[in-house]
Amino acid sequence: MAPANLIDGRAIARQLQGELVQRIEALKGRGVQPGLAFVRVGEDAASKVYVGRKEKMCAELGIASETHVLPEQTSEPELLVLLDRLNADRQLHGILVQAPLPPHLRATTVYARVSPEKDVDGFHPLNVGKLMLGDPTGFLPCTPAGIRELLARSGVQVARAEVVVLGRGNIVGKPMAAMLCQKAPHANATVTLCHSATRDIGAHCRRADILIAAMGVAEFVKADMVKPGAVVVDVGVNRVSDPSAKGGSRLVGDVDFAAVQPIAGQITPNPGGVGPMTIAMLMQNTVRAAEHAAR
Ligand code: GUN
Repeated sequence: MAPANLIDGRAIARQLQGELVQRIEALKGRGVQPGLAFVRVGEDAASKVYVGRKEKMCAELGIASETHVLPEQTSEPELLVLLDRLNADRQLHGILVQAPLPPHLRATTVYARVSPEKDVDGFHPLNVGKLMLGDPTGFLPCTPAGIRELLARSGVQVARAEVVVLGRGNIVGKPMAAMLCQKAPHANATVTLCHSATRDIGAHCRRADILIAAMGVAEFVKADMVKPGAVVVDVGVNRVSDPSAKGGSRLVGDVDFAAVQPIAGQITPNPGGVGPMTIAMLMQNTVRAAEHAAR
């Protein structure tokens, strides 16, 4: 039997998707088919897997999707021309440019080119600004939005909690901290954002009622860094070498799950925790974009 303290991201994502099916049906009844475009540049192995999963979920829910795969050497102007074309396409309500981009492409320039109304990733500076301001008309980035939903639907009390976020990336850590410190439902927490230059990171972690690990270091969070009963959310996906595994490597999170699970109050499994929620929130953002366009 699975330990009772697991937060089942797959089940919660399924619940969300069930809610979306009804909204998609309503849109179709009005002659609107939600549409999402994926853009992938280069051959990053993990990105191929992630985009594949997102395409599959679109198909399951009845969202039309198209994927544009560009060669690694694609220039910035070439990519921007494609984005302009997708921005102008009335069949498309969302555009997602999969990160990471090859190093010669400037992420800030690329994400600023996606129309803010189609920015279902929440990476455009206008949407980042709306997040900071607490303006709910923007799009929230999918992974932190999914984590907030996961906490809310698992009955975790976020208001007044001490939250420690590990990692200051633009995709998870920074927006996660911004989201949970808002004076809003399922937020209103005291948030500490730790990163590679933080002194005595363990001392911060041990104070956390909710610990969110998103720094991309394999099994960084050990048992002695977690307060007994704390809620632990593992965002990491790290490939580590393991001669005994098929292919010589395996995936681990940012949390040493076997050591931390017995002392955590609740913990996300990995896989099966945050990942499915990210995809569910992308679908939700796309449906919202289509509803907005259909008004
Ligand atoms: N790479 C890892 N996470 C994400 C995400 O949420 N969106 C995009 N576009 N790329 C990612």
